[in-house]
Amino acid sequence: MDKKLRKAIIAGNWKMNMLASGVKTYSEALNNAMPKEPSCEIVLCVPSPLIPALADAARASRINSGAQDLSEHESGAYTGDVSAAMLRDLGVKYVIIGHSERRAYHGEADLTVNAKVTSALAGGLIPVICVGETDEQREKGLTETLVAFQVKAALCGVSADALKGCVIAYEPVWAIGTGKTATAEEAGRMCGFIRDLIKKDFGEKVSNAVSILYGGSMNAKNAAELLARPDIDGGLIGGASLKPEDFALIITAAG
Ligand code: 13P
Repeated sequence: MDKKLRKAIIAGNWKMNMLASGVKTYSEALNNAMPKEPSCEIVLCVPSPLIPALADAARASRINSGAQDLSEHESGAYTGDVSAAMLRDLGVKYVIIGHSERRAYHGEADLTVNAKVTSALAGGLIPVICVGETDEQREKGLTETLVAFQVKAALCGVSADALKGCVIAYEPVWAIGTGKTATAEEAGRMCGFIRDLIKKDFGEKVSNAVSILYGGSMNAKNAAELLARPDIDGGLIGGASLKPEDFALIITAAG
């Protein structure tokens, strides 16, 4: 399968960092440092209060707006939550769902992840579904079992057509923010494993269309090797996306 037929995506996850007042300076620096005609889709997933500033800055650039979470509900009495419609209204295109930090610190279970995927799709957003094993699960040899369960649960009830528009990010928890990257071989094998799962359940056409990203300490130095793997279609980048020059180098590495 020619990887070029899939969308390459380089997505930054700012997590709970930066301020709205810094967004313009950041995007100017990124625009100056990155290739004028990047071959990949560029996404920045920022905290909700920063979205309007990002949408403003993104208007004249190749940057697409992304959010880091959304409510599984359409509207109503859900204090603190943000709906798909609210994100769409601000020009958001992508939304991260099921990030390991949400699973770990907010008790987000697989059924909630699935409800959020459904909600994102119904609201016209592209879900970036995060899966990945912890260090302990990896040591116990549970990586494939766990990742398979997370993928299947997240996609439960999603149609083959809708799945073509989804993005999956393999983010081993032990590699997030630790500087310990999975080797390109390991990461590529797991992204291929996820593609095979999709192939079994949804058919080859769908599995060939879904973009699968790697996340976990990806940086300007290791990006090219990771992105060269046939089943790695892009990256979900935390720390290194906070520095526009580093993020630009990763975009450049995507070709
Ligand atoms: P780091 O790139 O900081 O390891 O974070 C990865 C991540 O969690 C992206 O969602």
